[in-house]
Amino acid sequence: MPQADILFTEEQIRNRVAQLGRDLLEDLEGRRPVLVAVLKGSVIFLADLIRAMTIDCDVDFIAISSYQSEPKTGVVRIVKDLEESIEGRDVVIVEDIVDTGLTLNYLLRTLETRGPSSVRVCTLINKTVRRIAEPRVDHVGFETGEFLVGYGLDFKGRYRNLPFLAAVDDLAGLAADPAGLTGFFSRTAG
Ligand code: IMP
Ligand code: MG
Repeated sequence: MPQADILFTEEQIRNRVAQLGRDLLEDLEGRRPVLVAVLKGSVIFLADLIRAMTIDCDVDFIAISSYQSEPKTGVVRIVKDLEESIEGRDVVIVEDIVDTGLTLNYLLRTLETRGPSSVRVCTLINKTVRRIAEPRVDHVGFETGEFLVGYGLDFKGRYRNLPFLAAVDDLAGLAADPAGLTGFFSRTAG
């Protein structure tokens, strides 16, 4: 059975997200930003982040798919675009994790062509060890090099609904048995 360890607890996440909310508030005081959440991984982070920001704001969603290839090419495609124009708006991109940076790099370049007044990036996790592109990241929740699941982050679609962030010890083991961490759910019940 593949193993994982809780790296950031619910309480640690709650405290960190509250601080991120205050930091964004300080940046954007008196303005009405639009938070652009990148589907699907960032939805749980977004839900907590907006409740930590006592500011009038809009929310919009974008979904991106990357073409799987080795080496990574950074070729990505928008599979669901924003509903509203961001022209003249203060945009905050809300990401779950910046890893190679290729996805965020593409997203930044794309959104910047649409005439926003400003664009900030707020990511729950920053993983710099595998960085290929160097997009600007303004606010970071946690730094780690580990492969994480939980709090929105998935492995092949699973584990987004774990309320904490867990580091996978044995990624090859998990690839061989993608449902192998479901024992983790029993630790969160009750
Ligand atoms: P990148 O920065 O273009 O490499 O893309 C980051 C994306 O890779 C994230 O949005 C996730 O979908 C995925 N990813 C990278 N690292 C992890 C991880 O540790 N757990 C889950 N997904 C990850
Ligand atoms: Mg993602």
